[in-house]
Amino acid sequence: MKIDNLLKQLTTKEKIGQLLQLAPFYFDIDLKAEVAGRIRSLNIDREGIFMSGSVLGISNASEMIKVQQKYLDINKHKIPLMFMADIIHGYETIFPVPIALASSFNPLIAFQTARISAIEASTAGIHVTFSPMADLSRDPRWGRVVESFGEDPYLAGVFSAQMVKGYQNEGIEKIGNLAACVKHFAAYGASEAGRDYNTVDVSKTALYNMYLKSYKTAIDAGAKMMMTAFNVLDGVPATINKYLLRTVLRDQWKSDAVTISDYDSLKQVLDHGCAENEKDAAYRAIQAGLDIEMASVCYVNYLEELIDEGIVDIKKLDEAVLRVLQLKKDLGLFEDSFKGASIDREKELVRSKEHLKISKKVALESAVLLKNEQTLPLNKKQKIALIGPYAKSKSTNGPWSWHGKIEHNLSLEEVFSNNNINLTFVSDAENIDQLSQQNITQIEASEVVVLALGEDARLSGEAHSRSDIKLPNHQDTLVKLARSLNKEVVVILFNGRPLDLSNIMDSNAILETWFLGSRATEAIFDLIYGHANPSGKLPMSFPRTVGQIPVYYNHLNTGRPLTDNNQNYEYLSRFLDVENTPLFSFGHGLSYASFKYSDLEISQIEFDIDTTLRLSINVTNESQIPGHEVVQLYIRDHVAKISRPVKELKKFKKIWLEGKQTQTVVFELDIHDLSYFDSNGNETYDSGKFTIMVGSNSQETLNIDIWLKGVKHDYQK
Ligand code: GLC
Repeated sequence: MKIDNLLKQLTTKEKIGQLLQLAPFYFDIDLKAEVAGRIRSLNIDREGIFMSGSVLGISNASEMIKVQQKYLDINKHKIPLMFMADIIHGYETIFPVPIALASSFNPLIAFQTARISAIEASTAGIHVTFSPMADLSRDPRWGRVVESFGEDPYLAGVFSAQMVKGYQNEGIEKIGNLAACVKHFAAYGASEAGRDYNTVDVSKTALYNMYLKSYKTAIDAGAKMMMTAFNVLDGVPATINKYLLRTVLRDQWKSDAVTISDYDSLKQVLDHGCAENEKDAAYRAIQAGLDIEMASVCYVNYLEELIDEGIVDIKKLDEAVLRVLQLKKDLGLFEDSFKGASIDREKELVRSKEHLKISKKVALESAVLLKNEQTLPLNKKQKIALIGPYAKSKSTNGPWSWHGKIEHNLSLEEVFSNNNINLTFVSDAENIDQLSQQNITQIEASEVVVLALGEDARLSGEAHSRSDIKLPNHQDTLVKLARSLNKEVVVILFNGRPLDLSNIMDSNAILETWFLGSRATEAIFDLIYGHANPSGKLPMSFPRTVGQIPVYYNHLNTGRPLTDNNQNYEYLSRFLDVENTPLFSFGHGLSYASFKYSDLEISQIEFDIDTTLRLSINVTNESQIPGHEVVQLYIRDHVAKISRPVKELKKFKKIWLEGKQTQTVVFELDIHDLSYFDSNGNETYDSGKFTIMVGSNSQETLNIDIWLKGVKHDYQK
């Protein structure tokens, strides 16, 4: 298909139609919609509907075939619809939520989950997924932390890129692959106070050195689309932000990705107070470089008028439409408009045994052992009391898993029973007020109390931010009760964000499981009974209290840093009522094994901008228990033109060690691992001291100082 020729055949109205995205029920009112809201009431006529370019959300192959067939029967140029959906952490086989996936620190399983998600979703005729979400997230009050890869730009970038590669694999034209749409461009995770859709105001240096990196890594991995964020950036809504959509995406990153608004985020430009009306919004968007408008009709209603009035150059429209037509061509839709949709493949591949097995494998690596006073692993002879809102619950899929059916999942109670665990008492009570005296007697008959606590899945996700991040409904009273009965307490957490766990710290063991998906409870059972060894590490800090937020590991030093040596001095950057450190730090995660780090060595202490540095370190499993360990490498740039973080993750390797085994782990670093960006996005570096830190988490590392030579500071002659 020669898309330049096709473009020439289109009227202005037909071109604009290609930039509109509608829900399936516009094509067939019987079709259910995965999306709700204002999309239901768009004033668009039948002609406009059958000129639109893409569909938001479809449920299965037969619906897709029905919509596409009807559309092609009516559309004059037979330009096929593109079908897009939110396949965030699985289609019907549900994998751990992204914040859990990042906890695995195993990018290969991110690739695997994206592969399987694409294989399953493509059977429904879905062509594009609105994933990965690459938003750097530092504020656990924000509901969408659950969809993110956490607070570190390098980790978020590595995982975003692997998701893109997993979806797109050897080419989006192939059956079983999806085009990836990175989101939300940009810095949506910096919404003030973690309140969703709130104002974002970050400096250009923070933008380039923290918030943009993971989107760029995903674009460099070949992502075909970029979705704009709801928030403003530098006062301008991202959806009409020319700096983002043209200067950064096109000029600096050389990307030809199709840009798409978020759900009616173009219409929201009026609410932001940045357009007088929808015509003004349409004008600002096309000038800024927005291609597809999702779930609103500013373009459809006003772009033709703007062009006819000579206010908008039709070249801007042609540029956007060509990108959309190119994507349809790259997807192979002109050759096969029903690409992927197959009722037979749906039956064969969706929720297959093999996929579910991989879901469990991923879950095993995505849980984080936060605390363990030798209570875990349990043994099957112990009498157990199983209590809490997740004792009997099947709701382990988490937000953004609408094709996943929780009724297929097993509850913890079912898994414990299936494994013949001696359960003295089981209750989904959330706090002690819901327990009777008889219940307490039954708890007293147990040896260990396993508390399945956490947040309802609807307490995180879009539009679900919390100002208080403690366990809800006084669940902590269950910990206090069990400890008052001198029982050993194992807390299993089901939650979509870092929580303030300060009131359950007298538990003997805490396993963070987030929402691990279709096989969550089987994985949890294997982990707490030692059939598998926990290996997850935190991708985001856990605050001691919500008042500490924002608290993240890659912070700046400030001019009055609190250090180990000046605790008694008054005038320091600190609180009067809480420590500066989080309760659990980025990169923290325990194992049943114990790993010792030694012999950190580097190829040279003085280096220049062309040097490749080689570091090695020995890691020994001092126990007999085999397990994974995530070896993390951080750097600190001590002197630069802007203040640099006290540490930044730059490399990591997840290794397997048998009992008593030692492995030498090698990393290579070059200047690009040590550089930073100035406020115009130019990469830069300065001579002077750097520290390399290698260890099991961001706080416990072996360190070595090195010096960059040959780059003069401004003050030097
Ligand atoms: C939502 C979300 C976005 C999602 C889109 C389509 O509002 O912000 O992440 O992809 O709409 O469902």
